Amino acid sequence: MLQIRSTPAAVIADAPRLEQPPRPATASLSHVSMSYDGKLEVLRDIDFALRDGEFLSIVGPSGCGKSTILRLISGLVQPSQGRIDVEPRDGKPANVGFMFQRDALLPWATVSDNIAVGLECAGVPKDQHASRIRSLLELLGLSEFGHYYPRALSGGMRQRAALGRLLAYDPQIMLMDEPFGALDAQTKLLLGSELLRIWSGHRKSVVFVTHDIEEAIGLSDRILVMAPRPGRIKAEYVVDLPRPRDLRSVRKLPRFHQLSDQIWQEILT
Ligand SMILES: Nc1ncnc2c1ncn2[C@@H]1O[C@H](COP(=O)(O)OP(=O)(O)OP(=O)(O)O)[C@@H](O)[C@H]1O
Ligand SMILES: [Mg+2]
Repeated sequence: MLQIRSTPAAVIADAPRLEQPPRPATASLSHVSMSYDGKLEVLRDIDFALRDGEFLSIVGPSGCGKSTILRLISGLVQPSQGRIDVEPRDGKPANVGFMFQRDALLPWATVSDNIAVGLECAGVPKDQHASRIRSLLELLGLSEFGHYYPRALSGGMRQRAALGRLLAYDPQIMLMDEPFGALDAQTKLLLGSELLRIWSGHRKSVVFVTHDIEEAIGLSDRILVMAPRPGRIKAEYVVDLPRPRDLRSVRKLPRFHQLSDQIWQEILT
């Protein structure tokens, strides 16, 4: 049974509650169960909706099925039971972009050419590629590195390039599987801030998988906590911290620490 955790108004006096008008669902999973081989039940009765423009994170122990949920939303795999609906946008199927757990840049292509793959997939006319690539490289602080191959980049730069390709595709729904997992704390913070800026500017819907609870709190509107074997959603937290957020100063708010304690507690029990 899913528990919705809310907090008494008194404890969040320092952090005004966000106005949250109900937004339409952009993707929903209804009673989804999943087994890859017909024997091991990987997910059981997963039921949630991603709202339009929402930043939703999923946390939980290794192997609980977080990546599988993203694969299901993207259509890479099919559920064994239940259904997944991705709502059309402007009469067309919503496009869903994926940033994988390990960066999946094409090793034989330069950063610019990797970004061009996203533009190709989005159907951006060829004559617009050069200017779009230039502005994405600039946005991600990679202007000097468009002609570099992935092997000559640092881990953080590769993740930025992968983010550039995702943004080039310009999906309505961004599925991000531990995109900053391998990065140092400082780079994580920088890219997280960049991601928030892009998300709030373009009102994308994001499902963000991470092992880092503090990262999830800083970025998200809502956090789903999963339990393993079979993977289930154990609890849901609404992150009622004010926006826009500065990822460094938000960590100083008492409410941030309270949420962090509650979620840790949930994961450890
Ligand atoms: N292609 C596959 N074929 C068979 N089983 C799979 C496949 N992919 C994942 N699994 C199994 O599904 C379960 C959930 O895997 P998944 O990768 O979704 O977990 P996760 O929560 O993303 O873990 P992590 O935090 O380590 O990335 C695991 O038991 C895993 O062995
Ligand atoms: Mg995973």
